[in-house]
Amino acid sequence: KLKTDLFSRTSHELKTPLISIKGFTELLLNLHYQKLDKEIVSILEEIQKGSKRLEDYINAIVESSKLEQGLLKLNLAEENLSFLINYCVRQLEGAAELRKQKVIVNVEKDMITKLDKERVYEIISNLLINAIKYTPVGGQITINSSEEDGFYIISIKDNGIGLTKEEKNQIFKQFGKIERYGQGWDVGIEGTGLGLYICKEIVDLHGGEIWVESDGRNMGCTFSFSIPIK
Ligand SMILES: Nc1ncnc2c1ncn2[C@@H]1O[C@H](COP(=O)(O)OP(=O)(O)O)[C@@H](O)[C@H]1O
Ligand SMILES: [Mg+2]
Repeated sequence: KLKTDLFSRTSHELKTPLISIKGFTELLLNLHYQKLDKEIVSILEEIQKGSKRLEDYINAIVESSKLEQGLLKLNLAEENLSFLINYCVRQLEGAAELRKQKVIVNVEKDMITKLDKERVYEIISNLLINAIKYTPVGGQITINSSEEDGFYIISIKDNGIGLTKEEKNQIFKQFGKIERYGQGWDVGIEGTGLGLYICKEIVDLHGGEIWVESDGRNMGCTFSFSIPIK
């Protein structure tokens, strides 16, 4: 409880100055671009990137503490899960392309059910970003769907660095990030360690489940989640 209170208070206090840093950097870049030399522009872009990361981090902390306290309410409506998946893939295709990865989408055409589309989008994008980050250059990511016992099941499979048994037990916890510095993989190490915890809580709220399968180090992984058909 104390920890959660500290989270939400600190996050709020951090956000206010961050908004000015971000806002003024954008102002300089947008309004005064012509007057600035290249070196200054590239410094400003670094400031912009840094504030974006900090903002993402704060948002993740706020969301995860809301979920922990049961303060997050779903906004349910009838939606097309297939559309959400395709939309998300389109948004992240560029990131995969930068890593020379192929994303194959193999999902049913119309998967209609009641869900919170912003939150479910968040699940799909967290899983897809992870697959892109933790799969070395040239890898392959496949998204599949199926229908079982009144649930849609979505799975995101990669052929990346995989997970050991111990790692599988850790990753759905808050700050379940695994440090990969200096281990010689070409994988992204930035991140909050809150993504999968948030995914798990959101899936829970929908009445579904989330799980991972991996045969071990360098064997890739498959993350799956289910959403009830209503
Ligand atoms: N597709 C994946 N392949 C291998 N490891 C993964 C994959 N997705 C997640 N992980 C591991 O699970 C940890 C937790 O994931 P997440 O909660 O999204 O945090 P973050 O991505 O911010 O590190 C990651 O640090 C990573 O080590
Ligand atoms: Mg992540």
